[in-house]
Amino acid sequence: MKVVVLGATGMLGKDLVRILQKRGLQVFPLSSKDLDIRNEKAVRDCRLLSKKNADWVVNCAAYTAVDQAELEPENAWDINSEAVLNLCEKLTNGPRLLHISTDFVFDGTKGSPYTESDETNPLCVYGQTKLGGEHYIEAMLDDPIILRTSWLYGTQGKSFPKTMIKLFALGNKVRVVNDQWGCPTSTVDLANAIVNVLELNLESGTYHACGNDSMSWFEFAKLIHSNSAATCELEPIPTSDYPTPAKRPRDSRMSNEKLKSSGVSPWRSTESNLTEFITGIEKEMSL
Ligand SMILES: NC(=O)c1ccc[n+]([C@@H]2O[C@H](COP(=O)([O-])OP(=O)(O)OC[C@H]3O[C@@H](n4cnc5c(N)ncnc54)[C@H](OP(=O)(O)O)[C@@H]3O)[C@@H](O)[C@H]2O)c1
Repeated sequence: MKVVVLGATGMLGKDLVRILQKRGLQVFPLSSKDLDIRNEKAVRDCRLLSKKNADWVVNCAAYTAVDQAELEPENAWDINSEAVLNLCEKLTNGPRLLHISTDFVFDGTKGSPYTESDETNPLCVYGQTKLGGEHYIEAMLDDPIILRTSWLYGTQGKSFPKTMIKLFALGNKVRVVNDQWGCPTSTVDLANAIVNVLELNLESGTYHACGNDSMSWFEFAKLIHSNSAATCELEPIPTSDYPTPAKRPRDSRMSNEKLKSSGVSPWRSTESNLTEFITGIEKEMSL
């Protein structure tokens, strides 16, 4: 199987390329330098994005700076919506598209885990632009897969556990929001889920692809703390004490039952993922 990975230099993209290679698939990793997906002509002319050269195109490319997007919404629209339109135009009658989306398409008011049929209502520019991308895909392609993930963390980029470990190392009290809930997702688990989806040639549609455990940011921080060498104090705080430019969903827990019942279930517990993750990070930081 031949797989093109867009956004191959990102946090998810790097782990995905590594795991696809390990699983013996033929991989063509593309960075934004290789192919800027905003460039309509470059996308149209890209020979790799053809049925002859690829069975699947996995789109991990995105504008992911959630707060910055409030200041430069056009840039977020260009990458998360309009560039996805370029891809859809190219991939009509081409290889299948697997696109990564987000829990931020929801407003977080449901009060229980979101399923794929729940209504979307993004609260911030990032969520709106990612939803725009989903809409183009649904309108234009016959057999796409959209995987919505959440609270992603991996060793290859900026992530909440990495930030926590760095803050813990300073030894001061760390204050963490305790009234926003979600499902932490390891990039390694998500990459394994993507490989399973490709191998199963899963039926087209939208699926929630997040870790099994749900928690608040504070609970997530406590788990990281207890699995690390940290000794500093942790303090739970309300969102109102940590204002951010982008409004985030209060409770964006998602149910991954649809994906699991389709035979895709690589999810390990957050604790076992963290044990491995933290050992790697602490070694890297020589703690
Ligand atoms: N991180 C999270 O917590 C989270 C949560 C939910 C969903 N997601 C979704 O998961 C996916 C992967 O996220 P991530 O955290 O791995 O993102 P990331 O680390 O920010 O990586 C984004 C990638 O997109 C590429 N890219 C940006 N603009 C591009 C362009 N114009 N043309 C081609 N490539 C471009 C970047 O390439 P360069 O580095 O070369 O610019 C980079 O490789 C995204 O769809 C994101 O929306 C993430």
